[in-house]
Amino acid sequence: PRSIYLSRHGESQFNVEGKIGGDSLLSPRGLQYSEALPALVTDNIGNAPLTVWTSTLRRTIQTAESLPYPKLTWKSLDELDAGVCDGMTYEEIEQAYPEDFANRDDDKFNYRYRGGESYRDVVVRLEPVIMELERQENILIIGHQAILRCLYAYFHNFPQVDLPYIKIPLHTLIKLTPRAYGCDEERYALPI
Ligand code: F6P
Repeated sequence: PRSIYLSRHGESQFNVEGKIGGDSLLSPRGLQYSEALPALVTDNIGNAPLTVWTSTLRRTIQTAESLPYPKLTWKSLDELDAGVCDGMTYEEIEQAYPEDFANRDDDKFNYRYRGGESYRDVVVRLEPVIMELERQENILIIGHQAILRCLYAYFHNFPQVDLPYIKIPLHTLIKLTPRAYGCDEERYALPI
């Protein structure tokens, strides 16, 4: 059976600073993850063919750099667009836009950032990616937190209200193997 592997990019400079969005490069820890990932993937998949998909953002491309497989970048895999809040910390957002901050807490799936996107918007933009995923063999997606929540929820049939809270930790490879009903899952966390 074919598998879909999901991983967030390695820890980024913005992750360290608690800032959302942006297009920062990896932190030293993130780089360590990008260096350790090829052995983890290769040990798991053996000689089977694999294609790696990234977003157009530098932190995913950098994470995939040492992976010895064909790669494809998708604009549709870019992180949820936080609009005017891009590059801010959650504390800064709460200060600058207290109402928005509360509204997001009330309905995280439908809340749309000013000049940006909601989780619902991301689910729609991921439709072509999911269609292509359904046609492909083994794929590894190096993605972003919100994006991987949407893909994960699709394969596990999670309800929309729970989707924005799914735990997709850093430095963890998630392997999904679709079955007749549902998906098998394995997780491999690297102690980095
Ligand atoms: O902090 C990393 C990040 O990927 C941000 O770029 C993004 O806005 C956020 O996580 C999504 O998580 P949440 O929807 O829980 O804020």
